[in-house]
Amino acid sequence: MLGMFQSLGLGGQWRLPGNTSVDFLNLDHWVTMAKRLDEAGIDFLFFADDYAYPILNGAVIDTAIEKAIQFPRADPLVILSALALATTNLGLVATSSTTIERPQSLARRFATLDHLTQGRFGWNVVTGAGQNSSAKLFGDTMLPHAERYAIAEDHLNLSLKLWEGSWQDDALQVDRVNGVYADASKVHEIEHNGPYFSAHGMLTVPPSPQRTPLLFQAGTSSTGRELAATYAEAVFLASEPELVKAQIADVRARAAAHGRGPDAIKFLVAGSFIVAETEAEAHALRDTMVGFGTLETAAAAYAFFTGLDLLSMDLDKPLATVKTEQGRTNVERFSGENGAPAPTVREILEEFRSNGVMGRPFIGTPEQAVDQAQLLIEQTGADGFLVQPDPTGTHDDFIDMVVPVLRERGLMNTDHAGSTLRERLFGVGHRRLPAEHPGAAFRVPSGPSVDS
Ligand SMILES: Cc1cc2nc3c(=O)[nH]c(=O)nc-3n(C[C@H](O)[C@H](O)[C@H](O)COP(=O)(O)O)c2cc1C
Repeated sequence: MLGMFQSLGLGGQWRLPGNTSVDFLNLDHWVTMAKRLDEAGIDFLFFADDYAYPILNGAVIDTAIEKAIQFPRADPLVILSALALATTNLGLVATSSTTIERPQSLARRFATLDHLTQGRFGWNVVTGAGQNSSAKLFGDTMLPHAERYAIAEDHLNLSLKLWEGSWQDDALQVDRVNGVYADASKVHEIEHNGPYFSAHGMLTVPPSPQRTPLLFQAGTSSTGRELAATYAEAVFLASEPELVKAQIADVRARAAAHGRGPDAIKFLVAGSFIVAETEAEAHALRDTMVGFGTLETAAAAYAFFTGLDLLSMDLDKPLATVKTEQGRTNVERFSGENGAPAPTVREILEEFRSNGVMGRPFIGTPEQAVDQAQLLIEQTGADGFLVQPDPTGTHDDFIDMVVPVLRERGLMNTDHAGSTLRERLFGVGHRRLPAEHPGAAFRVPSGPSVDS
């Protein structure tokens, strides 16, 4: 299973000659990329997103602006309908934060996108990295971590009610002869009185192919894993192999406790492929890429995800028992509580300088890189990769060099019979949320009206 990672901004390697991510505000750049991915048989194109940018102690980090660290970033949702028109099978997935967006507007926008993509839309549910700067931007106080996840749960319940509960399956008539567009007794106002959101109203968009977009989740703090286990159908992870393995096992066990089947969730690990004709060339390319980073750029990236200033700490000691109310994934990852020894602050900075937030790359000839990727799948039990942008800024190297090897080894998903993204990941016939998913409980069975 293969998704491709992008954001509507600069990739980390924008300084490399030939890297085209500086064209991120040019629609042709995205249409060309999406078409190539569609033709190559990639499962989906994913856009990360966040309103945030790196700050520390309330001040913008100049290095982040100068070196383009988690900055700049434009809104990816705006381009998705153009990409939908340019492609046939490619899934289109975007992040929206439950901390910032309101469920009613998000549900309407995403139901529309699920129509326009003909059921190829997915939502990556996040509580959001970069909480300190996004809270500041919106004039809010930064909420505690646990509360953001409680909001996410309430947000999902309301969104799911709107998608699943507003329209019965047989409500839409479009009967010109009798002049009935929809059966009024089968379109319902939903009721929601949650701790954070209330609603009494209905989704005015007729049912889309998937109803609920395919639900992705990213954020592997322990609270994040519980949210994933309850609602997610696919989870993005990025860490050391032992930790990824433990996280997958943990989410699977939690999902089982919620009555969800062992295959209810797909797990995609972030993966970078740095490939060239020879191993030496691939390593030289990698060295150039790492050479663009400094401890300052690494610290700015770490501050974005965690709110913590590594450069103010003792570089030769592990991260003391820091508590942050910002993103926890990248604090828990280096805490030493997960079986692996806790690295020093300097080692964390080096990890962020070399690999960023997405883990160690696969480097070498295409065959060698695929060997390394296959090993990671064996070590972790993951279902596939969320592939990071190439040195090109696009995925051209991956398509030209890695995809042929994957095809040769029979590792590409070649069954595109399902027209929706959910079917593409779970098989033909799985257009809608499965019965065990909490969203299914909000459906009003079709057949005779329940109001009459
Ligand atoms: C592959 C991948 C993609 C992610 N994409 C986003 C994103 O687009 N926006 C975002 O705010 N967080 C994204 N995250 C999650 C953040 O890293 C962060 O962990 C999360 O938003 C905060 O939750 P936490 O406290 O559980 O860490 C992504 C994580 C991974 C592994």
